Amino acid sequence: MGIAMESVVVELMQPADLMEAAVVLSRAFAYRPVSRALSEKRRLDRERRLTAVHRLMLGRLPGQTLVARKGQRIVGAMRIVQWPQCQISPRQGLLMLPLMLGIKRGASLHWLMVRYVWWRHDPRQSHWHIDPLGVEPDLQGRGIGSQLLGRFCELADEASLAGYLETDTPENIRLYQRFGFLATGKASIMGSTDWFMWRSATEGNRPAHNCISG
Ligand SMILES: CC(C)(COP(=O)(O)OP(=O)(O)OC[C@H]1O[C@@H](n2cnc3c(N)ncnc32)[C@H](O)[C@@H]1OP(=O)(O)O)[C@@H](O)C(=O)NCCC(=O)NCCS
Repeated sequence: MGIAMESVVVELMQPADLMEAAVVLSRAFAYRPVSRALSEKRRLDRERRLTAVHRLMLGRLPGQTLVARKGQRIVGAMRIVQWPQCQISPRQGLLMLPLMLGIKRGASLHWLMVRYVWWRHDPRQSHWHIDPLGVEPDLQGRGIGSQLLGRFCELADEASLAGYLETDTPENIRLYQRFGFLATGKASIMGSTDWFMWRSATEGNRPAHNCISG
């Protein structure tokens, strides 16, 4: 028997939703396989620090956030930022560094490097940038991320804007490819690999090659 899909309502985040959306995102990232080896205490600490980071991203940095609601509960969130405000600049990165310290040994340096590489690779042409996207861990794989991405694509198409994001797993690449994103490049950053993915708004701004299929 297949996994039941969840039907959610996707809408713009309201100011009162900020904390709940930040917690959902922090849980989505704290429970990734790479963190599952951590003790419960370390994981909860990581989750708490990630909540502070996401609260800042959603509440203070530019952009808008879509939330997926199941009844009253927020179960997924996606922040969208329009270029050229989309990257965390080296200065903003340094300001956010204290929040990252202690998440995991060496994690803050890795995070700073990742952000720097993302900043350098960011396409210098108009786009909407997804950063971050996450779904409540116990509800992953039930179509919630797809419903958020579907809404993103509708909005991007209505605005005739391209989409762009960074990601780090083959599963995620598969998901984004279903929505028309193509991997246009990749970078190795201190032992991990990130792919850069682009979804064109029109045939006119499609990048030259797709490094996954070509
Ligand atoms: C990535 C994520 C947002 C996708 O949302 P979702 O609701 O789980 O995804 P959907 O159910 O709509 O789509 C399922 C597809 O997503 C991909 N996927 C990525 N991570 C997954 C996970 N933990 N569980 C299930 N599917 C996942 C797979 O391609 C899957 O397709 P498949 O079943 O054919 O392999 C969500 O799994 C998540 O929050 N993961 C942790 C944080 C993260 O990696 N965020 C994205 C950073 S770029």
